[in-house]
Amino acid sequence: MTTTIRGGQLARLLGQWHSLPGRHRSPDYAALAAAVRGLLSDGRLPLGVRLPAERELAEALAVSRTTVSAAYRTLRETGHLTSRRGAGSWTTLPNGHRVATSGLWTPEDDRNVIDLGVAASAAPPELVPAARAAADDLPRYLGSAGYHPTGLIELREVVAAGYQARGVATSAEQILITGGTQQALDLVLRLLAPPGSPVLVEAPTYPNALAALSARRARISTHGLDTATGWDGEMLLGALRQTRPRLSYVIPEFHNPTGHLMTTSLRERLVATAHSTGTDLVVDESWVDLQLDGDEMPPPVAVFDRHSRVVSIGGLSKGYWGGLRIGWVRASAPLVQRLAAIRVGVDMASPVLEQLVAVRLLEHSPKILSDRRAELRRQRDVLAAAVTELLPEWRFVLPPGGATIWAELDGPISSALARAAEDVGVRLAPGPRFGLDGTLERFLRLPFALPSEQLTEAVRRIASVRHDLDRATIPSWRTPSVIA
Ligand SMILES: Cc1ncc(COP(=O)(O)O)c(C=O)c1O
Repeated sequence: MTTTIRGGQLARLLGQWHSLPGRHRSPDYAALAAAVRGLLSDGRLPLGVRLPAERELAEALAVSRTTVSAAYRTLRETGHLTSRRGAGSWTTLPNGHRVATSGLWTPEDDRNVIDLGVAASAAPPELVPAARAAADDLPRYLGSAGYHPTGLIELREVVAAGYQARGVATSAEQILITGGTQQALDLVLRLLAPPGSPVLVEAPTYPNALAALSARRARISTHGLDTATGWDGEMLLGALRQTRPRLSYVIPEFHNPTGHLMTTSLRERLVATAHSTGTDLVVDESWVDLQLDGDEMPPPVAVFDRHSRVVSIGGLSKGYWGGLRIGWVRASAPLVQRLAAIRVGVDMASPVLEQLVAVRLLEHSPKILSDRRAELRRQRDVLAAAVTELLPEWRFVLPPGGATIWAELDGPISSALARAAEDVGVRLAPGPRFGLDGTLERFLRLPFALPSEQLTEAVRRIASVRHDLDRATIPSWRTPSVIA
């Protein structure tokens, strides 16, 4: 079904469209078209949405109808809008574009674009040998239909052994293999969060988790993470006690996007409080393998779980390769069975070959992970040095793990900067993508999963448009007006 966005709503999303960088050089209609393209590319304006009638948008933006008409024509010409007489105009995608793993639209063939929208590394060299070995393993499974809704037992055993090694007793029956951590989250929400359920998440948080929650029509509330220090225990536990949510989603290990690591004592108190408020805790361990500094890791949140309140989800995307699409749920064995029953109605089972590749890959996990950590450490330090040198007003703390720096900018400019960066071939996921209601404009996530040369080049390009932004927009956001 096509959804419609009203004039007032689109005007709100467009925000300061008339003061984008370069605005002084381009006419109104071009600036408006560029701003709509920007919203599409950062995912805040979905695909297939019907835009307001020209007259309605003109009124909402206080511009002439000719301006909106010309902007719509420009968007049609670039392939971002399709119109049919009588049916209206809806957002589309130019040919040759695809959906990125982050849910953002990216040009497929533009090799010059540096993609800082995605925080995940390229595959390790061990992948191809693992795939060859897996192909040799495949005949063992070819004599059956190949549907294994809970996953191949050999992979479930390896994943369970990983939890054992981290100090939490886990059997293979407690593991469900999924198509990535994202599917793990979706399945858990289908089971544990009926439509309309109150759900507590961190702010900022992982955008695709917000997307999964919205798709399940959760009533989302947030508790804020401090940029420098991470979780405020009293705030988090207070929010749980006050809102008594059905479910709470947390990323305790190298939180995406801030990179923070939750302390052992807060993990323990979190589980106890969740039990007392009747809240299921969904713990996203996507980044757990990627500690870059520090000593011993805190134990998994599930260690403190005595009442089957904790459902852990994780996967191979961050430590190994996202293209494998291998993730999992760790829960009680009966819950795993219920999730598998739901999963049959979604995609039946995960592909056998990919699971065999995962088993073979995990045989080399110590080397793969230590190489990955060394690479991320180098890239983090290069990125941090470039930002410190070229954007000295930005503030950040060096994350002890993960692959993202969460930078506090020198103004509420994140979306405008992302649009401007697109013009110089850098894709950014602006701060508001990590929260609700367009907040977090003062923040930007900078991943360091790309090679060092690309990171320094990206910062150089961002710094150059940051400078332009200043010249174009100073009056609109630097001087708050006083309302007496
Ligand atoms: C916190 C978090 N959860 C889930 C995912 C998605 O992971 P997967 O590729 O395993 O579906 C990501 C990827 O960025 C992530 O950062």
